[in-house]
Amino acid sequence: MDAFVIEGGRPMNGRVVVNGSKNAALPLMAAALMTEEPVTLTDIPRLADIANMRRLLEELGCECAEPEHADDDAPMALTMRTTDDSGSHARYEIVKTMRAGICVLGPLLARRGEGRVSLPGGCAIGQRPVDLHLRGLAALGAEITLTAGDIVAQAPVGPDGARRLRGATVFLGGPNGSTVLGTANVMSAACLAEGRTVIECAACEPEVVDLAKLLNAMGARIEGAGTPRVTIDGVRTLHGATHRVMPDRIEAGTYMVAAAITGGSVTIENCPLDAMMAVTDRLREIGVRLDTRTGEDPMRAVCRASAEGPIAPAHVTTQPHPGFPTDLQAQFMALLSLAEGNSVVTEKIFPERFLHVAELTRMGAHIFRQGPTAVISGVRRLVGAPVMASDLRASACLVLAALAAEGTTNIHRVYHLDRGYQRMETRLRALGASIERVDANELDAAALT
Ligand code: EPZ
Repeated sequence: MDAFVIEGGRPMNGRVVVNGSKNAALPLMAAALMTEEPVTLTDIPRLADIANMRRLLEELGCECAEPEHADDDAPMALTMRTTDDSGSHARYEIVKTMRAGICVLGPLLARRGEGRVSLPGGCAIGQRPVDLHLRGLAALGAEITLTAGDIVAQAPVGPDGARRLRGATVFLGGPNGSTVLGTANVMSAACLAEGRTVIECAACEPEVVDLAKLLNAMGARIEGAGTPRVTIDGVRTLHGATHRVMPDRIEAGTYMVAAAITGGSVTIENCPLDAMMAVTDRLREIGVRLDTRTGEDPMRAVCRASAEGPIAPAHVTTQPHPGFPTDLQAQFMALLSLAEGNSVVTEKIFPERFLHVAELTRMGAHIFRQGPTAVISGVRRLVGAPVMASDLRASACLVLAALAAEGTTNIHRVYHLDRGYQRMETRLRALGASIERVDANELDAAALT
């Protein structure tokens, strides 16, 4: 198991090119199950979750080929072709490692008329229910049962004897807003349903818009993606297409914080600024200078983030898009730990998403948590310490804190980080960081001597 050893106190300076978005790529890959023609995606990040999704698709009869493998640092292009749709079971062994595997359910139901997907468990950030997914698919006529930990879903048999979903009006609102992957599942399923589907209270995340772009390129008829009301007119078949995965707004925000927390200046290219208004708003509130240059595509802009003076305190409340993204909450908490004053962070999407608080406290942060809210009293300095990563974004938070801390920080269980950040240590080293990936056992052995 790998760990990071980070010597803090060095400013991050230089440039990074943002990779394709993990959270866009996963449902985009699942869309390849909806046609027998080739679907090619470019700018796919090389991440553990992507490798797991590839394995899942191959088990479901979808061949995935990498036309040319440049090198491990280059983004990946994948051509996926579903040649065998006889099986439709997404097994627990894969889904348990990547709960986003649930996003194959809609495509399987749409194309094969049935799907069996392991019920994803919870995770470090809290309960991860899928009730809205199931209610949405049931509204399209799917018969859904839970059997031995699996969701078993079947489309109804139509007059022609084929199993096909039926368009309907679907409400996807839950206690904390809508559901991103639930919207992806229902939107995908509706593409091949009979008649019109209207999704009310759809998730408005940019990754949903990216999926709709691919599905429409495959012949679907989706309107309104990115707004709370999405209309889908079902078609009989979808054809192949080629699509470039949108840039990862969470990775972009993470590197902006890296510049701010270390007093550096980082130019971020392929930056989806148009999808980051809430993030850049909070960064400016905190006193980070952002110089932006957008070309014809505001989703692939250039943004230089520079620390300008002290870190000012701020209020951050996570919301559904276009509000502040929950996936940057932990990273901002690291930054606000060094603010001159008291900040308040409220987590409205995953109220338990605070496992990074205890680890930041070990590094000297002063954080008081009460339920879904944390008050951060800024300190003058963080001090390096051995810490434990617990989930993907908490890992990024600890890396950022370590970059700013005085002394050495050992971060254990960085496999969490590898799920969502491509070769982060290489990219941070290029920005001036002292960071090494080591075998955690060697670290522990050294600590005992
Ligand atoms: C997606 O997860 C992202 N993952 C998450 O990113 C992200 O944090 C989340 O959206 C919110 O933006 C991927 O896209 C692969 P949700 P998803 O369904 O779709 C509740 C990361 O770090 N809910 O939008 O699974 C749920 O409990 C990951 O990259 C229900 O109540 O999240 C939560 O409070 C972590 N019933 C809220 O909705 C449901 O059926 C939002 O969850 C589904 C969700």
